[in-house]
Amino acid sequence: MRRIAVLTSGGDAPGMNAAIRAVTRKAVQEGLEVVGVQRGYQGLINGDFIELKSRSVGDILQRGGTMLKTARSEEFKTQEGMSKAMLMMKSYQIEGLVGIGGGGTFKGLAKLAEMGMPVIGIPGTIDNDLPYTDFTIGFDTACNTVIDAMNKIRDTASSHERTFVIEVMGMKCGDIALHTGLAGGAECIIIPEIPYDIDAICEKMLEGMRKGKGHSIIVVAEGIIEKVADPMMASHGSAHYIADQIRNKVGMEFRVIVLGHIQRGGAPSVRDRVLATRLGARATELLVSGVNDAAVGIKDEGIVRFPLKEALAMSKSVNMEIYRLVDEMSI
Ligand code: F6P
Repeated sequence: MRRIAVLTSGGDAPGMNAAIRAVTRKAVQEGLEVVGVQRGYQGLINGDFIELKSRSVGDILQRGGTMLKTARSEEFKTQEGMSKAMLMMKSYQIEGLVGIGGGGTFKGLAKLAEMGMPVIGIPGTIDNDLPYTDFTIGFDTACNTVIDAMNKIRDTASSHERTFVIEVMGMKCGDIALHTGLAGGAECIIIPEIPYDIDAICEKMLEGMRKGKGHSIIVVAEGIIEKVADPMMASHGSAHYIADQIRNKVGMEFRVIVLGHIQRGGAPSVRDRVLATRLGARATELLVSGVNDAAVGIKDEGIVRFPLKEALAMSKSVNMEIYRLVDEMSI
């Protein structure tokens, strides 16, 4: 193997740059050339390539976003698009590909593996929604961003004795809400994986008031709105939808905050930099050693790998210990 490529695809996540740096520097040490693919799979189709050397990945370790840019390519989802990408890689003598992203990125890599390209997937998404790994790159930083916001919201919530409903990212997976709900002392979290009971939530708010609580925080994952059948109601978004239902039942003053894309930016945390660097280096090592289809991840602090399709077929369950603790700690 003489030349490999690296790309980032789907939603960006803090720590993707650290992973690009690790893939590149490990490859340089192994005597390989590295091609950086810009704008994800669309860049693979278009030949949107840059040469990556040790120095070209300098000063990116601490930066959020991705120096390679990212995109969601519709063309790549077609057989024609994938064939074009394969041809492009062939004509540039690319003999292996590292893809950094979430489930969509991994599906693309699995297809390329089927077509004969050696590929390794690195989990990079703030959602933490890949079941085969304990953590994805970017999740820890996104949680810290949410906590920073929650601390500030708590100040004003306490002063005005209000309830805040905070909407965080997470379409199918409520891990950001779960972890920040516990770390931020929320009264209640609402996540897509677990059905919720509005009356029980209202009762908890009222009970809190009776016990002298002046303010409350409810954390809602954005994905819960996907299950709302009425399109008119759904158009307001998850946090407004929940606030509207509770407002009338408990006589409290409510404010709604949708944290949105600030969760995707910012300097990666130590945890994310370490994870990204470990996984990036391992991905390159695997390609060099002849592995041609793997997703790398972390389990109990150790690096694990699975064939991509196997990794994608696993299912994720909610950490019920954390879920219950949120409730128990907010009495
Ligand atoms: O990357 C995952 C994610 O941040 C989800 O939590 C969110 O639903 C989605 O991406 C939003 O993506 P975009 O703004 O890129 O359409």
